[in-house]
Amino acid sequence: MKDIIKIVKGHPAVDGVGVKLTRVISYNDIKEADPFLLLDAFDSDNPDDYIKGFPLHPHRGIETVTYVIDGQINHEDSLGNQGAILPGESQWMTAGRGVLHEEMPQKGPRLFGLQLWINLPKKDKMTAPRYFEINSSMIKTVELPEGTVRVIAGSFNNIHGADTHFVKALMLDIRLNPGKELSVPVDQESTVLVYTLEGDGHFGPGGTQHAGRRTAVIFGEGDGVYIRAGGKGLHLMLYAGRPLHEPVAWGGPIVMNTQDELIHAFEELQLGTFIKK
Ligand code: CO
Repeated sequence: MKDIIKIVKGHPAVDGVGVKLTRVISYNDIKEADPFLLLDAFDSDNPDDYIKGFPLHPHRGIETVTYVIDGQINHEDSLGNQGAILPGESQWMTAGRGVLHEEMPQKGPRLFGLQLWINLPKKDKMTAPRYFEINSSMIKTVELPEGTVRVIAGSFNNIHGADTHFVKALMLDIRLNPGKELSVPVDQESTVLVYTLEGDGHFGPGGTQHAGRRTAVIFGEGDGVYIRAGGKGLHLMLYAGRPLHEPVAWGGPIVMNTQDELIHAFEELQLGTFIKK
């Protein structure tokens, strides 16, 4: 089983135009969370906390993976795509050499969701941008005596979700009944990032580490992840992917390997040459 290498709660942050969120992992977690760069969690029943959203902004060198649990996020980008992410659905965007997009949460009783940033390997930083939607009809649920597992990307129990193109990622939405345990097989080398949405649980070999609601648990090497739900059950997201072990030069929405590449990207933004055909 994989050992736990870090447990973090994140901190409140404001991004976009006044969007209140919890920045669960970020700059300070690069080493342990590689290939994952950032995890933001949104949860509010007050539209003032999110309605101004994330108007047009650039990305380069990463993939953004948005997952909506409740509410709706509309999006539009420089590739000409537009659509809506609905409850239980995901959007996987490869920024590659560059996109400009907007992400606008829609007014409703609640906005509850996550956005994960996955680093792109050095050789794929400047790949052509693309995105795909993982809608509900594409997501299968594995029913177990212990609970349910929605397979959004990668495979679990021979059920296959979306195939990802660069970092081969596993993305599962797991609900465990009170006190139940589950071992999720994951590649020996892969980093695992778990984020508890509701309830609490015990993690790691022997279940010796406790994590409460809204906590990220990062696991290193080992052949799987052990999870045991607390007395009220447990709802969590599990992401896994192999670390890149490459240098990270991070400037806001752009993540490259060197400082020169970052400077170049910001120059291109100013010159209007950021978007390549
Ligand atoms: Co964005």
